[in-house]
Amino acid sequence: MSRRRHLVELRHAPPAVLPSLLLCDFRNLEREVRQLEEAGVRALHLDVMDGRFVPNLTYGMPIVEACRRLTDLPLDVHLMIQQPQQYIKRFHDAGADIITVHAEAVDSPSEVLSQIRDLDCGAGLAINPDTPVAKIEGSLPLCDLVLVMSVPAGFGGQSFQGVALEKLRCLKQLVGDDTLLEVDGGVNGETIHDCQAAGAQLLVVGSAIFREASYRDAVRKLTDLALPV
Ligand code: DX5
Ligand code: ZN
Repeated sequence: MSRRRHLVELRHAPPAVLPSLLLCDFRNLEREVRQLEEAGVRALHLDVMDGRFVPNLTYGMPIVEACRRLTDLPLDVHLMIQQPQQYIKRFHDAGADIITVHAEAVDSPSEVLSQIRDLDCGAGLAINPDTPVAKIEGSLPLCDLVLVMSVPAGFGGQSFQGVALEKLRCLKQLVGDDTLLEVDGGVNGETIHDCQAAGAQLLVVGSAIFREASYRDAVRKLTDLALPV
């Protein structure tokens, strides 16, 4: 079955809170994933950092593979690495359903997006807060997803930057219904509604879920706040 089917499901669903597993308890990955499934999340957001593209080092294919074995939830893999085109196939093989690369990390985003699509995965393109939408306008037709970073990529727990809202509004005008808009970084009870109102359909949340005792309550509260009024 095509992995790209998840894109259709996510496009037709109401705004979705996606947990970023960066701050989860990796000693108990299975328990964490079960609790997130019970909380009703519709996909898992996995942050891959190489210590070069960003000043932080997280995990790679083995954690993606472990999540693949644990759940049928779509895996939304956010690559914050240099030369991501060298690793696309291996993340595909590890079980990624959506693979997002940073526009700042590639010379030809369109080439890499086509490479991802050729592997039957959803192709995403991310931009950091100081990268204008104009930089990726030419590649938008090949994007199944555009990820607008509301913090500089590299760490959880940072403060939300409002420039992301302007970009979401601008992208909402530029992209068709077949492109998902995602926001990531500092999304919490104070910022999530504005993100949805600006056009974000996928709302990545790290500390505002994993610093809470009950993931189910945190996800429900955030989802309620994200719903259009
Ligand atoms: C940061 C990552 C985010 C981060 C979000 O580079 O891409 O996914 O984990 O965490 P919070 O919600 O704590 O900002
Ligand atoms: Zn992320």
